[in-house]
Amino acid sequence: MNHFDYVNGQLQAEQVPVAEIAAQVGTPFYCYSTATLVRHYTVFTQALAEAGLDAQVCFALKANPNVAVVRTFAQLGAGADVVSEGELRRALAAGVPVDRIVFSGVGKTEAELTFAVAKGIMQINVESEPELEALSKIAAARGIRMPIALRVNPDVDAGTHAKITTGKKENKFGIEWTRAHEVYNKARALPGIEVVGIACHIGSQLTDVEPFRQAFLRVRDLVAMLRADGFDIRRLDLGGGLGIPYESEEPPHPAVYAKAIKDTLGDLGCKIVLEPGRLLVGNAGILVSRVVYVKEGATRTFLIADAAMNDLMRPALYEAHHTIEPVIEPAKDAPRLPVDVVGPVCETGDTFAKQRSLPPIKAGDLIVFRTAGAYGAAMSSTYNTRPLVPEVLVKDDSFAVVRARPSFDDMLALDSVPDWL
Ligand code: LLP
Repeated sequence: MNHFDYVNGQLQAEQVPVAEIAAQVGTPFYCYSTATLVRHYTVFTQALAEAGLDAQVCFALKANPNVAVVRTFAQLGAGADVVSEGELRRALAAGVPVDRIVFSGVGKTEAELTFAVAKGIMQINVESEPELEALSKIAAARGIRMPIALRVNPDVDAGTHAKITTGKKENKFGIEWTRAHEVYNKARALPGIEVVGIACHIGSQLTDVEPFRQAFLRVRDLVAMLRADGFDIRRLDLGGGLGIPYESEEPPHPAVYAKAIKDTLGDLGCKIVLEPGRLLVGNAGILVSRVVYVKEGATRTFLIADAAMNDLMRPALYEAHHTIEPVIEPAKDAPRLPVDVVGPVCETGDTFAKQRSLPPIKAGDLIVFRTAGAYGAAMSSTYNTRPLVPEVLVKDDSFAVVRARPSFDDMLALDSVPDWL
């Protein structure tokens, strides 16, 4: 469910015609719908509440770190899951209270840990023994014990794309399942550490609830073991990962996911922390682009868009599918012809869709890539010296540019030439 629909033959974001935004902002740009963000957050939190869970949702900023987007969630009560000092600063700038921020990631530097400890965030999810020792030193030097969870790797196959699966023992994430107890014992002996829970995240874009259930059962076993050993385990951070429909996927509804948590972990009296990213923002964003040329190749037709792989890299990186639609609603009986939709970047990987069946689209027409709110702008770059793609947030009948397109002067000003040149 989202709020991008054709109204009187024109695609609108809530009550704003997408073409109107394009006329003012230029293309390409990302466009987010507040109503869709709010709806996704509400559906998710309601499902958790209806399952009777005491849960804190910490939005995974990596999916969409725009401060306006994060503030939208913060105002609804969301916390934040951050993986860098930059994301932590964004969460703070967005007004997320420090006691709702968790810090994840395999390679937190000393500077990042120091910043997080100084801010007094809710919890750090520690992913290795060297990190545990580094953190203990930093916290102890300030005379405090930092609340932590160890991120354990439950060795469960999430059944998702190889590049975004994280919970198998050959992945770099977390502490190997079988060693977890030993590392917990080590943690409790360190002066700057307070063990409060267990963290676990097995992958992203899961379309089946079963791998979650398996991972949660392993977490349950670990809670029992640790409690028997005197640990006060009171928080379980179950990560993110619930998938969304891009094409024909049918991921479990949040209610089914909440029930899996309830069934496996609901009786342990723990606070449940969740780190959804994609689920909250994916369908709430579109990438809007203008077709520059239609080129008849030797064997196929190319729609050459002004958006490229640097603006939305998911198709190039994961062969991800994004539905493509024209902004002017096509006639119901319009013919559909196979075309390749590509960007202007100088590599063949800059292809959004191959042989996609689309209605007639001509040069100058606006098109949109749907379901681009998660890991779209977040992963954009300036490859080919293309300005970072701007972002627009719509609410009802208004819109605001929430990240401006940098000028070429802004971009060039970042480089400097040494004296010897
Ligand atoms: N928590 C942790 C520790 C994570 O590593 C991730 C995602 C999340 C939460 C949020 O997962 P989500 O709910 O969004 O599935 N760039 C890829 C996705 C990478 C996900 C990385 N970790 C893509 O475009 O599909």
